Amino acid sequence: MGLRLAITRRLPAAVEARARATYDVVQDEADAPCTGADVLRLTAEADALLCCPAEQLDAATVAALPPRLRVVATFSVGTDHLDLAALAARNIAVVNTPDVLSVATAELSLLLILMTARRAGEGERLLRAGRWSGWHPTHMMGSGVAGRRLGIFGMGRIGRELAAMARGLGMAVHYRNRTRLAASAEAGAIYHYDDASFLAVSDVLSLNAPGGAATRHWLNAERIARLPRGAIVANAARGSLIDDAALIAALRSGHVAAAGLDVYDGEPRVDPGYLALENVVLLPHLGSATVATRDAMGFAALDGIDAALG
Ligand code: DGY
Repeated sequence: MGLRLAITRRLPAAVEARARATYDVVQDEADAPCTGADVLRLTAEADALLCCPAEQLDAATVAALPPRLRVVATFSVGTDHLDLAALAARNIAVVNTPDVLSVATAELSLLLILMTARRAGEGERLLRAGRWSGWHPTHMMGSGVAGRRLGIFGMGRIGRELAAMARGLGMAVHYRNRTRLAASAEAGAIYHYDDASFLAVSDVLSLNAPGGAATRHWLNAERIARLPRGAIVANAARGSLIDDAALIAALRSGHVAAAGLDVYDGEPRVDPGYLALENVVLLPHLGSATVATRDAMGFAALDGIDAALG
């Protein structure tokens, strides 16, 4: 018998074909997020697991993984759904898929920013509802982004791609990060040593930092109050970065003019408070969802599994 790979979801066809050419694949055909019990059933005789960000591998699940399992690969750059300490304690290698999704996710951040600034979601809903009466000079006026200040929270690979795109649109880029980048990587972006000065200049705030305990509810009522009145918030990182009640209150009061969200705390559940608001663009976690990117993510995960089992 060859090496066995457990896969929790359906994957792009080319990725599944390569997986099947290399491994004995056991796959959950339901194509729904696996519970811990599903993962344990799938991996019962597996050497490797390929899972997705919607699946939580908590300490109890990791502790019950079979002794022969040597590597867990996630079809994502984010690893906040994995108990990394528990996996390390079991000596199970972890593989994720950085780099290949940076451009696609930065594009999605930019899409959220432009859609909110130019009221695109609102306009499309109006037209589809048959409520468009034709062009008029004061209709649905938004704000441009050229000349505005973009604050990027999390200047990793995705943040840096977004910064390059935003510069092309004439935005001034500011950023907050655990550490300051080298001048060559900053490319003119302005580093802030504290949240207060960073938030004060963020006409548009884009969240591009990892999820997890360290960033949970980073954007809370206190930090929102420090944003300029009329700021825009975009989140293509993790829903857990935002205290939803605080953001919804600020969207209602107008302190935050608009928000574009691709990710949600506890997704696919979306706080119903957002659904009632016109000044919000809501997308279903599409950050990396291009054909080429999803193929590349799958191949990167398989490369990592091959290396760990090789
Ligand atoms: C990731 O890779 O972490 C994304 O959220 C999936 O697109």
